[in-house]
Amino acid sequence: MKQKKTKQENWTTQFGVIMAVAGSAIGLGNYLRFPGQAALYGGGAFMIPYFIAFFLLGLPIVWAEWTLGRYSGIRGYHSAPGIFRCVTGKRNMAYAGSFCVTLTTIITSFYVFIESWCLAYSLRYLFGWMEIDADGNFGKLFIESVGLEGNGILFQHGLLNFNLLCMLFCLLFNYFLIYRGIVKGIEWFCSLALPALLICSLIIVVRVLTLGNPTGIEGQGIIEGLGYVWNPSQPNKTLWESLANPETWLAGAGQVFFSLSLGFGVICTYASYTKRNDDIVLSSLTAAAGNGFCEAVIAAMMIVPAAYIFLGPTFLTPENLSSSFTIGFQALPEVFHQMPMGRIFGFLFFFLLFLAAVTSSISTLQPAITLLEEGLQLGRKSSLIIAGTITTFGALFTAYFTENLTALDTLDFWVCNVLIFIMAEIQIIIFGWTLGIDAGIAELQRGAQIKIPYFFRFVMKYISPLYLLIVFAAWLYLKFPEQIAKISQNPVVQLSLGFILFVTIFNLFITSQALTRWEKEERLQSNEIDGEI
Ligand code: ALA
Repeated sequence: MKQKKTKQENWTTQFGVIMAVAGSAIGLGNYLRFPGQAALYGGGAFMIPYFIAFFLLGLPIVWAEWTLGRYSGIRGYHSAPGIFRCVTGKRNMAYAGSFCVTLTTIITSFYVFIESWCLAYSLRYLFGWMEIDADGNFGKLFIESVGLEGNGILFQHGLLNFNLLCMLFCLLFNYFLIYRGIVKGIEWFCSLALPALLICSLIIVVRVLTLGNPTGIEGQGIIEGLGYVWNPSQPNKTLWESLANPETWLAGAGQVFFSLSLGFGVICTYASYTKRNDDIVLSSLTAAAGNGFCEAVIAAMMIVPAAYIFLGPTFLTPENLSSSFTIGFQALPEVFHQMPMGRIFGFLFFFLLFLAAVTSSISTLQPAITLLEEGLQLGRKSSLIIAGTITTFGALFTAYFTENLTALDTLDFWVCNVLIFIMAEIQIIIFGWTLGIDAGIAELQRGAQIKIPYFFRFVMKYISPLYLLIVFAAWLYLKFPEQIAKISQNPVVQLSLGFILFVTIFNLFITSQALTRWEKEERLQSNEIDGEI
């Protein structure tokens, strides 16, 4: 594949790229999804499949994405279609790469919607509106304000609707950061937001750890709360019972995927802006470890222990924990209400979630911008107008069809589960088999101080693709029939799939235009070189 002559934007520092990649990874998945999954699948027992998936899938796919990204970036390709084509040398692989852009565009659409809940809640705490609205049932406040019990409630009070304003602000804020570019937007914001997020997290953790036993109910103190997250055997489930449940293994792998932003095509897009000899092993390990620390250590010590202390173990049931994202919004206000200085901690917690969400949503918006800029040679403003129109439509669509969060769940299922697994499988196969495991590892290690242990060659070539395939097949077997049945039963599901189809066709079309342009540029470059000879 020939090198494309383009104006190259690069991260300014290694700290900046680590913050950006860690920012993409650290998000609502860490602070809301992880604690819910851990509590649901046996606490400490869940950590076993989680860590196994981290080493056998997480790290290998992270390394594959970093390698593919830098390999193509130094050859002038930054978008997933460009990267897939550049590494494989096959035209049609660009179309496969376009699915990464579809995936991230859809994720941005519904992620910004949840991000806006975080902003709305933090502002409510800051200005004391949470208290005013409270009627002793905070979960109801959430259900009413986002409209879980009916469609369009978010829009009922017109444009001055607070939640709607928060969502529009979040969209504009994301567009503003993306407009400023890789260095002045993403790197700048993540370098500030991540340390701020860590400080907020530590303050809340200290608050939770020093709660003692405020309700005075026996067996409902902080020690028991932490035990609920960390003990491998729970009062109602032994370690072996948890591990014998295939869903525990699927949940462990699914969490690693969502949390590390694997298969999204975000890591490879970000990595494509690194330089030829940057130490990407160190950057990838630091970002992945930072992500793991934020969820398996920090987040694990927040929501579940606090909910355990104030709401009791009976609250932590599959029914209450089934919706990973809403649990924090429905249960935590109750916890903060009972907690001394709860208003301040409520503000800090939801503000922390907001920061974490923004660093993730800008990363999922960037791949579409990169494709439009690189494929159609559009300026940043035009690319942003196009990608912004689609994601704003998607966010409004998700926000309108809020009843039982059907639109959000449908987009989440087909994109975050089905498509992510497929794209991750393609990326690890490109790394291990197309680029070749030895060439891949050599590329990964260029400029690196740390040596990847030899056995990871075997893991990345055989174990990761196979493990991924098994997890995906098992997961489809368990979940697919139920989702297929929903298609014919629910028009909102059909509309959501229509939106996914529209974005897919749009990205395939842009990719086809990009291919024509790239091929023409490469022919011209060849002719120039022939002329010089
Ligand atoms: N990786 C991001 C998160 O955890 C998407 O929220």
